[in-house]
Amino acid sequence: MPFGALTFVLHGVIAMASLVAAAFPHAKVLENAPPGINYKIPKGTHPWTSTKFTRPSQNIQKIHGFTGTKNTNARSVAAVLGAHQRQVGGFGYENVTAANAFGTQYGTEVLWNGFRTLLLLDTGSSDTWAVPQSFVCIDYSGQIVPQVACQFGDPYPGDFSTTDLVTPDQHMYIQYGDGEVVTGPMGFSDITLGNMTIKKQETCLANTTYWFGNNQTSGLMGLAFPSLTNAYLGLGEDHDPTNQVQYSPLFTSMVNQGKVPPLFSIAIDRNSSGGMIAWGGMPPTTGLDMSQMATMDMIITNLIDQPITAYQYSFYTIIPDGWHYGQKSAYEKYPYIVDSGTTLCYLPPDLADAISAAFQPQAIYLWMYGGYFTSCDAIAPIVAVVLNGIRFFINTVDLIYRDMVDPLTGLCMTAIASGGTGPYILGDVFMQNALVVFDVGEAKMRFVPREFY
Ligand SMILES: *[C@@H]1O[C@H](CO)[C@@H](O)[C@H](O)[C@H]1NC(C)=O
Ligand SMILES: *[C@@H]1O[C@H](CO)[C@@H](O)[C@H](O)[C@H]1NC(C)=O
Ligand SMILES: *[C@@H]1O[C@H](CO)[C@@H](O)[C@H](O)[C@H]1NC(C)=O
Ligand SMILES: *[C@@H]1O[C@H](CO)[C@@H](O)[C@H](O)[C@H]1NC(C)=O
Ligand SMILES: *[C@@H]1O[C@H](CO)[C@@H](O)[C@H](O)[C@H]1NC(C)=O
Repeated sequence: MPFGALTFVLHGVIAMASLVAAAFPHAKVLENAPPGINYKIPKGTHPWTSTKFTRPSQNIQKIHGFTGTKNTNARSVAAVLGAHQRQVGGFGYENVTAANAFGTQYGTEVLWNGFRTLLLLDTGSSDTWAVPQSFVCIDYSGQIVPQVACQFGDPYPGDFSTTDLVTPDQHMYIQYGDGEVVTGPMGFSDITLGNMTIKKQETCLANTTYWFGNNQTSGLMGLAFPSLTNAYLGLGEDHDPTNQVQYSPLFTSMVNQGKVPPLFSIAIDRNSSGGMIAWGGMPPTTGLDMSQMATMDMIITNLIDQPITAYQYSFYTIIPDGWHYGQKSAYEKYPYIVDSGTTLCYLPPDLADAISAAFQPQAIYLWMYGGYFTSCDAIAPIVAVVLNGIRFFINTVDLIYRDMVDPLTGLCMTAIASGGTGPYILGDVFMQNALVVFDVGEAKMRFVPREFY
């Protein structure tokens, strides 16, 4: 896109985008961009200060791990386009043995208008919603089924009063990458989390859902950018893009309401003990070596064929240097989304094949799961993604899901999946092995390794 158009578009940009908007005129299209991919690196507006990283956040909350019905989720919108290529329909997973020692979904607790509510934590989508007591659970064909089939935790015990409703009437409609569908009216709620209250946050009380829950969380907290919000004018069935209305999602509101500086950091633990999210700073002393921090540009690129994402931030997207696996390495450049709402890592097919071949015995692709499987006692290769010259190892414990067994073959699923033509994703399997700083103010992603070989 030519510069002129880019600067022009900015005048209409809202909310979080305004934090980086001032810098957009400096944005440039990289000359060494991967083939076929255009992206931009805007300069952030908030200058780097190391004090951010020496002063722990006063707005910290715990993350909890859960085991869901499906075990792995490619829930985030990030997965929408890739889903049909890699055949991660929600259904393939249903017959994978469900007992899993590891949390494969991560959630956190908020007070929603004062009511305690557990929400899934999703850096790959932007809408925040919860189910009200009267919600309707549907199956994949749209037939009404008992509420328990959606497997939510305690629903939110209220409705939007007429004064809380967004006017003119709006509704949310979102279809996640794995086929789940959530819809309901949009309104305003006070959300208390991490030692602060976000006033009048636009939210959805999802009165109709097709959902694979974990019996604990009652909704989802979307932490990506405004360009990925899914509100539409009217209350009806019309989710036409021309009716879409962008709004300020939770983290944007948090910053715009002056609660915290424009960054947050996440350290999730593979154990269901969970981990921490720190708003506006870092978790308390992590014992990590901050000199090992890899700083990457947060890039703007149109990964999901929505024109708006070509010039506004959408996902938390980076371009890693490459990968090491076994004795080999691969340095082709592709954008990856950092996504807490997706369990596995989704890589370009050739690379996923090559890494799978490095397991002993080598992992084979089972199309009905869209994943690679190997013997449950296989030896996993050493795998690392290289970020700004620093290797981020993935603990071999995370590379084989020893409790996710295909009943036909008795093989276990691995954590490296093929992402088809993209988008590619660094999911929970990666995030479990790093402290990840989403430095929106400076338009950087920062990573500190937590795993060493
Ligand atoms: C909550 O925030 C206040 C300041 O806004 C701070 O004094 C207090 O220490 C914080 N509490 C925690 C648990 O961080
Ligand atoms: C598991 O699901 C796949 C895909 O739906 C199906 O082909 C396969 O037969 C199922 N296996 C068992 C043991 O039910
Ligand atoms: C959900 O809410 C919308 C908007 O208020 C309403 O039109 C619709 O009938 C509701 N659906 C159900 C199943 O309650
Ligand atoms: C949720 O509870 C239902 C009913 O008790 C149970 O059948 C289902 O397996 C549970 N799901 C999970 C993910 O624990
Ligand atoms: C969970 O954490 C504890 C303490 O860090 C560790 O000993 C244990 O092996 C972990 N369990 C798994 C399944 O990773």
